[in-house]
Amino acid sequence: MLSRLFQRSLFVAVTCSAVFAQAADKLPNVVILATGGTIAGTGATSTTTVGYTAAKVGVDRLIEAVPELKQIANVSGEQTFQIASENMTNENWLTLAKRVNVLLKQSNVDGIVITHGTDTIEETAYFLNLTVKSRKPVVIVGSMRPSTAISADGPINLYNAVAVAGSADSVNRGVLVAMNDEILGARDVTKTNTMLANTFRSPELGDLGYIVSGKPKFYRATTRKHTADTEFDISKLDKLPAVDIAYGSANANTIAIDAFAAAGDEGIVYAGTGDGSLSTPVRARLTELRQKGFFILRSSRVGNGPTVRGGENDDDKTDFVVSDTLSPQKARILLMLALTRTHDTKKIQDMFYTY
Ligand code: DGL
Repeated sequence: MLSRLFQRSLFVAVTCSAVFAQAADKLPNVVILATGGTIAGTGATSTTTVGYTAAKVGVDRLIEAVPELKQIANVSGEQTFQIASENMTNENWLTLAKRVNVLLKQSNVDGIVITHGTDTIEETAYFLNLTVKSRKPVVIVGSMRPSTAISADGPINLYNAVAVAGSADSVNRGVLVAMNDEILGARDVTKTNTMLANTFRSPELGDLGYIVSGKPKFYRATTRKHTADTEFDISKLDKLPAVDIAYGSANANTIAIDAFAAAGDEGIVYAGTGDGSLSTPVRARLTELRQKGFFILRSSRVGNGPTVRGGENDDDKTDFVVSDTLSPQKARILLMLALTRTHDTKKIQDMFYTY
């Protein structure tokens, strides 16, 4: 009798594990690359939502905290960095992009999720949008509340990011940011609030889609080149050209610009007022620097709308490049990568209308 019962329970166990194995076989393989940030942050109390410590919790604990991940993907984790994202560097980006490209070449990797501090998510997303050489999904995710807070948004954001990264619908859409049930494109996403959970927006140009009960639903697609279609190859680079950003305001002067030039920058992004307007002394100094071989990128501090060539400056005459709708921080990224390909300002300007 016992042996029959044992046989039966053994049969059930074997069948279930086979079904589970078969089910697991059907699930997408998603690799989580953890870099730090608030999603890995801890606060002194469960009500601490600012003034906590970012980049404390490791990738294994982030995955363990969301057991539901196992129902939607075969997940593995790597701790790429453990930093607050204001400390992200060009070298970090090169390391991350190279690791992503190695993993996505593997047939047993269907998508990648990157957990990241929200302060520079938009920049890392855009850098990867220009350097990942695959059409497989790469989804960047963070959180606005630390893991220790009541209603921490990290776990659901991580679950949603894995769902997006494992979905065939997410293929060839460029690098995506998945936060607060929204899917945003790397080129246009930006952090719009210092503390709210819905901080990530693509103002005026809009989200690409939503995540509804763990399923991505797309409504739009980017019109600009990205990932496998870009011309940039970072595989052999261990540093990027030095490009810094000067910020325009009333009473603008050239102290920051002079410091960047003295430090040996190759390019300077100027976040001008309005449509990338330059005060008289700033325009004169930037024009001089262009004549000395520095590359000048005219952008705007405004946040929406294109910085238009020939609008607030005779860019043909001064040989400046304009950022189109890219923010100063994203224009810096494209200018750095452009300078790894060419010093021809007409070709660089075309890149700002292409990516
Ligand atoms: N120190 C900020 C960062 O790592 C915290 C913000 C966050 O991750 O939400 O980006």
